[in-house]
Amino acid sequence: MSTVENLPAQGAGRKSEVAGSRVLVADDQPDIREALRLLLKGEDYRIETVANPGAVLSAMETQDFDILLLDLNYARDTTSGREGLDLLSRIQAIDSTLPVIVMTAWGSVELAVEAMRRGAKDFVQKPWENQRLLSIIRTQLELSRALRRSERLEAENRLLRAQGRPTLIAESTSMQPVLQLIARVGPSEANVLITGEHGTGKEVIAQTLHALSPRAHRAMVTVNTGGLPEGIFESEVFGHVKGAFTDARTDRVGRFELAQHGTLFLDEIANVPLSQQAKLLRVLQTGELQRVGSSRTIMVDVRVISATNANLQQETADKRFREDLLFRLNTVEVHLPPLRERREDIPLLAMHFLRQYAQRYRKEIHSFDQAALSALLDHPWPGNVRELDHAVERSVLMAREDTVRASDLGLRPRDISQKGLEELSLEEVEVSLIKKALARYSGNISQAADALGLSRSALYRRLQKYGL
Ligand SMILES: Nc1ncnc2c1ncn2[C@@H]1O[C@H](COP(=O)(O)OP(=O)(O)OP(=O)(O)O)[C@@H](O)[C@H]1O
Ligand SMILES: [Mg+2]
Repeated sequence: MSTVENLPAQGAGRKSEVAGSRVLVADDQPDIREALRLLLKGEDYRIETVANPGAVLSAMETQDFDILLLDLNYARDTTSGREGLDLLSRIQAIDSTLPVIVMTAWGSVELAVEAMRRGAKDFVQKPWENQRLLSIIRTQLELSRALRRSERLEAENRLLRAQGRPTLIAESTSMQPVLQLIARVGPSEANVLITGEHGTGKEVIAQTLHALSPRAHRAMVTVNTGGLPEGIFESEVFGHVKGAFTDARTDRVGRFELAQHGTLFLDEIANVPLSQQAKLLRVLQTGELQRVGSSRTIMVDVRVISATNANLQQETADKRFREDLLFRLNTVEVHLPPLRERREDIPLLAMHFLRQYAQRYRKEIHSFDQAALSALLDHPWPGNVRELDHAVERSVLMAREDTVRASDLGLRPRDISQKGLEELSLEEVEVSLIKKALARYSGNISQAADALGLSRSALYRRLQKYGL
C-alpha cells in the first residue's frame, strides 16, 4: 500500500487524506464488481467485493470498512429492491457510522429515496459516471472520517468523565489486558461475551462497556436467563401479544424491544434452553423479531453483551449450547481472572467496600489493621469480589472501633486441602499425610504406619503430638 507521503498529488490533495480507505463493494454481477474494482484501485483504496447480502454481513463482522458501495437489486428479487433495502437496515443496525452509498437501476429514483430515508448517505444510478461516483465516495469518506473521529473522542471523554460508569477497580497486572480490551471494544458495536467465575465482576464489566458506548444515553436492559422457565423466558425476552396464551391478558413488550437502540445484557447465557437459543440466534442474525402470538415483524437495534461462568466451549461440545449462537455472541470475549490471581487488587477493593459500607451504616471506620489486611490477602476468595464485598460489609457491622480487626472479618482459616504444598509447613504436611493414610486404611494403625514408612510406635507418638 502507498503511504500518504509518496502518493501523487491530485485534486488539491484530497486523495491523500482518504487513500488506503477500505471499500466494500456488494453487487451480484461479476462484471460490475470487476469494473468497480478497477476504478477504485486507481484511487489507492483497498477493495473487497462480495456478491450477495449474506456475504456483506459476514464481511462486516470480520473486517472493518470505511465505506460500503451497495447494489440494491439482487438476483432473487430484481425489481423491487426490497432485499437490498432490508439489507441496508441490517447494516445500519450493525454499524450506523459506516457510510453506505447505494446503487440503483436507472430510473428507480423512488428506491433511492427510500434508501436515503433508511440511512444511506448518497446514491448513484447505473450506469454510473466514473468521476461522479469517485467524488461521492471521496466526500463520504471525508465526512465519515470526521464523524468517526469525533465519536472516538467522545468515547474517550466519556471514559475520562466516568459518566454513568460503575466503579471498576483493576490495578493488578492481570487486569491490564482486560482494561485495554474493554477500552477498545466498549465504544464499538461488537457483541461481547464476558466469562469468569462467580462474583468476578462480569456485570460491572457489562455496565462499563455500555457506559463507554455511544448507546450510553440509552438503557442497558438485563435479562437474567438463569432459572426462567422456558415459556416465561420467551415472552420475557421477545414479548407477547394479548391472547397469545391463556395468561396473556395484555400485550407485553419484551426485553429486546425495551433495549431498542441500547444494550441488552444476557446474564447467565449458558442457561438459555436449546429451543430458545434457536430463536435468539434468528433475532441476532436478522435484527427482526415477532412477539409470541404475533406475526408482525419488529426491527430491533440492540447491542448484545452476555455473560457466563460456564465453559461455553464445553457446553457446545456437549451439544447443550449452539455453536452458531456462541459465534454470534463472542465476537469479542472478555475473560475475568479470579480474585486469587489478582491479589494486588484486594486491598483496593476492600477499602472501596469499606468506605461504601461505613457510609451506608453510618459508622466511623476508616481502615483495616495489619492483621486484618493479612487475613484478606491470605484468603483464597472462592467467591471472588462478591465474597470480599460481603466479608467487608459484615466486618463493618461487627467492628467496635474505627479500625477493622481480623476477628471482625470472620474469615475461617484456610482449610489445608485448599493450600498448595509449597504454602504448608512441614508439620502441616505431616498431619495431612497421616490423616490421609488413616482414612485410606480405615483407622488401622499398623497398615497406616506401614504405608507411611514409620514404625507403629513412631506413628503413635505423632498422633499424640498432633492430637489426632
Ligand atoms: N473490579 C471491581 N471493582 C469494584 N467493584 C467490583 C469489581 N468487580 C466486582 N465488583 C463488585 O462485586 C460484586 C460482584 O460483582 P458482579 O455482580 O459484577 O459479579 P458477577 O461476575 O456478575 O457475579 P455472578 O457470576 O455471581 O453473577 C458487585 O457488588 C460489584 O459491584
Ligand atoms: Mg452476574
